Amino acid sequence: MHDTKKRLAVLISGRGSNMAALLDACRQGHIHGEIVAVVSNKADAAGLDVAREAGIPALVVDHRSFANREEFDAALFNEVMKFAPDFVVLAGFMRILTAAFVRPLAGKLINIHPSLLPKYPGLDTHQRAIDAGDAEAGATVHFVTEQLDGGPGIIHAKVPILAGDSADDLARRVLAQEHRIYTEAVRLLCSGQIAYDAARGALCDGEVLPPSGLTYSER
Ligand code: GRF
Repeated sequence: MHDTKKRLAVLISGRGSNMAALLDACRQGHIHGEIVAVVSNKADAAGLDVAREAGIPALVVDHRSFANREEFDAALFNEVMKFAPDFVVLAGFMRILTAAFVRPLAGKLINIHPSLLPKYPGLDTHQRAIDAGDAEAGATVHFVTEQLDGGPGIIHAKVPILAGDSADDLARRVLAQEHRIYTEAVRLLCSGQIAYDAARGALCDGEVLPPSGLTYSER
């Protein structure tokens, strides 16, 4: 591939392990892209230090400095757009984004959610899956639309729920899969194999994907 690398802006709120996995994959040439900015709504997000140590611009746009979601989203949008990203990657970003942020980025904004969507949008996904007696949990990478955790799936991975699993046990095993599927999703996006069609959803090599996207299997 000889075209220029895709520019990735990654939004975080905390630890940033998914961001770090993407950074590794970019650095190793596995993803034909580069992280050009990491933006957090929280100044104490540990992932900011990871970005800084890697020499990546790491910024804070603190949601508490704004009167409402709309003003925060406008400021965040401005900061992110300064880096001219091809894709905006939500990686543990814990704020709900309004239409003014999401709409102009249709097909360029993706998220990872720690459940097998459409099951368990929102918070506490692992405990909810355990409480429901589900046999499996997992994670899904999806395009972001105005519907919370509701956009078309790109890829998902399943993780068995084991007897006696606590939410933390399950979260640990799901997180290991998150790192794999987020890397794979961003790789496919940057190579142009995955695309978004507002009417049809997520496409892989021109074919419409099922609502939950590709099924990840280790190779
Ligand atoms: C991940 O489980 C992600 O799916 C969820 O928040 C967590 C973020 O982890 N939305 P990290 O900051 O990437 O380590």
